[in-house]
Amino acid sequence: EKGGWDTFMRKEINEQPQAVADTLRGRIDGNGQIVLDEVRMSDQDFRDIDKVFIIACGTSYHAGLVTKYAIEHWTRIPCEVELSSEFRYRDPVLDRSTLVIAISQSGETMDTLMALRHAKDQKARVLSISNTVGSTIPRESDAVLYTRAGIEVAVASTKAFLTQLAACYLVGLHLAQIRGIKYADEVSAVLSELVATPDKITKLLQDMEPVRALAREVATRTEQRVLFIGRHVGYPVALEGALKLKELAYIHAEGFAAGELKHGPISLIDDGTPVIAIVPSPRGRSLLHDKIISNIQEVKARGAKVIAVCEEGDDITRVHADHVIETPASPTLLAPLLTAVPLQEFAAELATALDKDIDQPRNLAKSVTVE
Ligand code: M6R
Repeated sequence: EKGGWDTFMRKEINEQPQAVADTLRGRIDGNGQIVLDEVRMSDQDFRDIDKVFIIACGTSYHAGLVTKYAIEHWTRIPCEVELSSEFRYRDPVLDRSTLVIAISQSGETMDTLMALRHAKDQKARVLSISNTVGSTIPRESDAVLYTRAGIEVAVASTKAFLTQLAACYLVGLHLAQIRGIKYADEVSAVLSELVATPDKITKLLQDMEPVRALAREVATRTEQRVLFIGRHVGYPVALEGALKLKELAYIHAEGFAAGELKHGPISLIDDGTPVIAIVPSPRGRSLLHDKIISNIQEVKARGAKVIAVCEEGDDITRVHADHVIETPASPTLLAPLLTAVPLQEFAAELATALDKDIDQPRNLAKSVTVE
């Protein structure tokens, strides 16, 4: 049932191109329009939205964080993202023109379910993004968009994460298409890039041995701590890379917004501390690229060993980092579909080198149906 792979996690990492393609399939028509009829929200419903709130836990929360950058940029609708466990115990400002997006692979996460009910009590409209047909969260939502990752067995979420991103991008681009469009050209260009992503993920997965070699090297360090830094959508990817490492390898791993380093975290850096930097494309938003290069220099000056996840052909990063992991070129907002993948492999290999059970890490359950 592992299809020739040693673990479910590796099988699921390698199923990602198919899972993303499946999630996009049939949802973009021949004229480049996103069709989400199955969601059962009318164009008018989408037009009435003046605020988006995303609620989720764990990896699904990281997908939500990426979505905020995309929705606000493409649609200019204010978007907030919050952990379900926080949202459910406070007084968020919502009304019937607020769209609440609940993201949950299992569709059964208790905190997200309770947060959804809290939102509905305040008359917000709830759209859930879930991988599990007929589960509780979709059943209690006003609308649902299913991801098509297939069953995810490994506790650590991989293909579910990428398909959540794909589904969230569809929602964001759909909102942009419906609501009169400041960035019409950009939206159609991004859409074609989105459709091209599964092939890029396939290409990326063909060359994972260098990533695994780096993971094995980091595993030999006696004082184990790995820091991840990123900016913009690279920041949630950093959080996700760190979460994977924590849950699988049981080592201290933290993701930071690179701009926060000087506000505290940089004092964690010691001689040889591994720092994984998620570097945005040098094209387009080159200001962000410059900024992360400065951050790489800062941590290197304190002794860090920098592994940079960057776009192929990014020679500047190659000069500054100790090692680079290259990903295929992509628009900035879609880059997480690619940059997250080597971090999954990195965590799986590091945990394997430390002899951990990567499909079933200690203390964790696949579906968290209690608080
Ligand atoms: O089923 P959900 O998407 O609601 O689950 C949320 C989290 O429990 C889940 O993403 C968890 O963080 C994963 N184990 C991360 O790999």
